Amino acid sequence: MCGIIGVTGAADALDILLDGLERLEYRGYDSAGIALIDNQEIYRVRVADGTHSVATLRSSTANAPSVASTGIGHTRWATHGKPNEGNAHPHVDCAGHLALIHNGIIENYQELATTLVGQGHTIISATDTEVLAHLIEECLKSAATLPEAVRAALTMVRGAFAIGVIELSDPELIVAARKISPLIVGISGDASFLASDIPALLERTRDLMVIEDDQIVELRPGSIVVSDLDGKVVTPKPLHVMWDVEAAQKDGFDDFMTKEINEQPRVIADTLRGRITDQGAIILDQLNLSDDVLRSITNVTIVACGSSYHSGLVAKLAIERAARVAVEVDIASEYRYRDPVVSATTLVIGISQSGETIDTLQALRKAKALGGHVVVVSNVVDSSMAREADGVLYTRAGPEISVASTKAVVAQMVVLELFALHFATLRGTMTPDNVAQEISDLVGLEDAVATTLARDPAVAAVAKELIDARDFFFLGRHAGFPTALEGALKLKEISYLHAEGYAGGELKHGPLAVIEPGCIVVAIATGGEMREKILSNVSEVKARGATVVMLAEDGDSNAASLADYLLLVPATSPIVSPIKDIVPLQQLAYHLAVARGLDVDRPRNLAKTVTVE
Ligand code: G6P
Repeated sequence: MCGIIGVTGAADALDILLDGLERLEYRGYDSAGIALIDNQEIYRVRVADGTHSVATLRSSTANAPSVASTGIGHTRWATHGKPNEGNAHPHVDCAGHLALIHNGIIENYQELATTLVGQGHTIISATDTEVLAHLIEECLKSAATLPEAVRAALTMVRGAFAIGVIELSDPELIVAARKISPLIVGISGDASFLASDIPALLERTRDLMVIEDDQIVELRPGSIVVSDLDGKVVTPKPLHVMWDVEAAQKDGFDDFMTKEINEQPRVIADTLRGRITDQGAIILDQLNLSDDVLRSITNVTIVACGSSYHSGLVAKLAIERAARVAVEVDIASEYRYRDPVVSATTLVIGISQSGETIDTLQALRKAKALGGHVVVVSNVVDSSMAREADGVLYTRAGPEISVASTKAVVAQMVVLELFALHFATLRGTMTPDNVAQEISDLVGLEDAVATTLARDPAVAAVAKELIDARDFFFLGRHAGFPTALEGALKLKEISYLHAEGYAGGELKHGPLAVIEPGCIVVAIATGGEMREKILSNVSEVKARGATVVMLAEDGDSNAASLADYLLLVPATSPIVSPIKDIVPLQQLAYHLAVARGLDVDRPRNLAKTVTVE
């Protein structure tokens, strides 16, 4: 998830790029760069300075050619390759005649790189993007124009992209193209613009055009021509924007939490992108554990904090079921101070959105010192944990700004389910048919989550009914148990209400004593054979006067008949159900917090990343 911007025909091109990048920093901020066409040369500056990247880029371009009127800019959130200057965009071709920015993921970049190196190209960075610059350079050998070369190159590319390309032979032209990743364009006077999103252009124009998948755009001063892959000119959809910059950064949603909840279908697709081949094989290229090491593993320990710990509980079920290896899950702050048993055949998995949480980092250091193999699930490329671990499974949620984690948790669960299937394949504990079926269940989650999101008004209506409630118990069993814990944590974090997650089987061991009229019990009654047992728990709490919010799958009339309020989700395989079931619970927490007038993005007393004990 990166931000891109381009402009041609503007005397203040550099300022437009820098101002736009400042407005795009919420999309990524590990590094930033610009390229301008100046007097038959490409002037390119890139910096990697974390959250200061755009400010540093501004000071580093103080001597930029003042007459350049065509340029492109990029702010990066790394997915492939560390966040350093060499991997920052724009990328250039071998001759240095062409510069390119990209948002998205190129799935077949390794294949393309091998072919291009064979053709004599030198690829310098570790990104999936740089191959595009060389591929277009190669296509320019037989194409008459840059648009033709881009069109030819894109027929060879698999994945998601929004790109902007400039080239010396046609210095006022920017060629852009889109597949899946967002791209908008606009004109103001003699200047034509492109960007990944609206905030980058709002100060220049409110009249934009939306580029669709498989469209190619030629931007020249004061002119924009859009065509399809066959070269047929098409009329883009106009978009007049009324939002201010802040609303636009939140994609028109009221806050970052809603934006991030709504990004989850995209996050599921991105986290799977390029990791499953056409033949159904799983590729986890940064795992860095040989097949032999993975086969030798006798036990797995997962360590994490907060919501990431709940992803760990879901992963335990997946790994034990699929790969038949014993898994323990521990809170990192407990693990780091106990005397854990770790051997050379122990795999320790740390899960952390930030990759910086101090307890998880220290727990992993301890595991490594004791001789275990350490793998990290991180949303931030090259985070402290990612640097120190033997291997990494990156989630591709993009920057998560709201303190309460939503999209990162979903991405963690997805990548860990995929890891479980990879592990099972190596260990021969699942048949290829079963692995294929479960991969297809994972892929299907994108739609299931999108369907669930569309039901937000129904969740909001339930929240409205519960506005006076003060005590919530979330009950789940098996895969529903981590869901119950995460649902309760979300509610606690942002609404400041008392909420506890419990395993349904523990109800009679304490919580039942507290149940009385006024208590809200949220029952996770989706999927699998444990559903009936949860329905028994529901009868028990109803008999004691609790109000029941039932989370059930479409068509489950038994569950519906026991519910005071119903939250419905599409039916999926029980194995992946926590990944979709958490969504209405995020929405419920959100609506209750908003109804209580609270700041959902910045809950009191909490921090996004806890780097002190
Ligand atoms: C804080 C955040 C939580 C997060 C937890 C672990 O408490 O508010 O949302 O789940 O830290 O963070 P990590 O970055 O390690 O996943």
